[in-house]
Amino acid sequence: MTNPDNTQAPDDTRVRVFDTTLRDGEQAPGFSMTRAQKLRLAHALAELGVDVIEAGFPQASDGDFASVQAIARDVRGSRICALARCQTGDIETAARALEPATAARIHVFIATSPLHREHKLGMSKAQVIDAAVAAVRRARELCTDVEFSAEDAMRSEPDYLAEVFAAVIEAGATTLNVPDTVGYTTPAEMGERIRYLKAHVRGIERAVLSVHCHDDLGMAVANSLAAVAAGARQVECTLTGIGERAGNAALEEVAMALATRAELFGAATNLKTPKLYPTARLLAQITGQPIPRNKAIVGENAFAHESGIHQHGMLKHRGTYEIMRPEDVGFARSQLVLGKHSGRHALRERLAALGHQPADAELDQIFTRFKTLADKKREVFDSDLEALALGRDGEA
Ligand code: KIV
Ligand code: ZN
Repeated sequence: MTNPDNTQAPDDTRVRVFDTTLRDGEQAPGFSMTRAQKLRLAHALAELGVDVIEAGFPQASDGDFASVQAIARDVRGSRICALARCQTGDIETAARALEPATAARIHVFIATSPLHREHKLGMSKAQVIDAAVAAVRRARELCTDVEFSAEDAMRSEPDYLAEVFAAVIEAGATTLNVPDTVGYTTPAEMGERIRYLKAHVRGIERAVLSVHCHDDLGMAVANSLAAVAAGARQVECTLTGIGERAGNAALEEVAMALATRAELFGAATNLKTPKLYPTARLLAQITGQPIPRNKAIVGENAFAHESGIHQHGMLKHRGTYEIMRPEDVGFARSQLVLGKHSGRHALRERLAALGHQPADAELDQIFTRFKTLADKKREVFDSDLEALALGRDGEA
């Protein structure tokens, strides 16, 4: 198992996408998946072009082990990763589950913040470093690609975090992950922390710097982008942002922000973005949890316009009210939804598409009846318009 891509050159412009939908995402209530479902989604994630698929936590259960193993056996095109605590048993189980993979990664983690050290682990600073180093060394004996995460990194002392990272690089870690485990950080703090680590971690040029943000204060995507702007080159995220509590950074939002505002970041992902919507829909079908209509990038309303002013603008130039092309994220087209806020221009266009070209006076009458109908229902469908055009009052 070799990996030519586990260091980060100073001028590196590629943001690696580490998808954890099947691990951190699946941990959230309402989102658990069977092995067959995970395998199906893993294939779709590989087709989407994610660099790393975190397939699960093999030590957590026999089911998780079997899912990681099945994905490692069947899925090609992405690196397959398994999570492990800094414990020999976890690491060896992860390595066994990953055996069939052609490109694998073991991801070890331990908490570094004072709160976690004292109350959860009951370990001193030195003991945490020793455990982290021993774990990374054992993982490196089993796999050439090892990621280390400092759980609750953003509430850890910066100088101590830098010391931990330097020690695990020396032990062989090739990706260093900075989790904002409880979604506590702001974008300014995240940028500052990444710059600090780049300046103070000995040997940092031998590893890729990564970020993993939770959304408790609704800042997971903003924090991930701030980390990229400051020099991180791996983002950990999930489809539609599913994950523990309020979730993780949403993959599709990070990817499209980097693509749409490329001038701010100078770094982009390798994703095939037209697959974003179909892949998010597949997740919704599998879990039975619908995508909220107003969800950025992949919600039904993301490219839908109802207000008359917006529709008028869109008919003149789509750039007036759209910053991305729907086809770039997998929607067939923008939608001008006819409702009580819509205007005459959009009505005329839709009637024309349905084969009706009323003269101005007739359009005025249809428009009046259309507004009366639209006040009574949320959306006016093509069947209603056909009825209005034929002189009936709609609600066909
Ligand atoms: O949120 C977190 O800290 C994690 C780690 C295991 C990376 O999910
Ligand atoms: Zn997490």
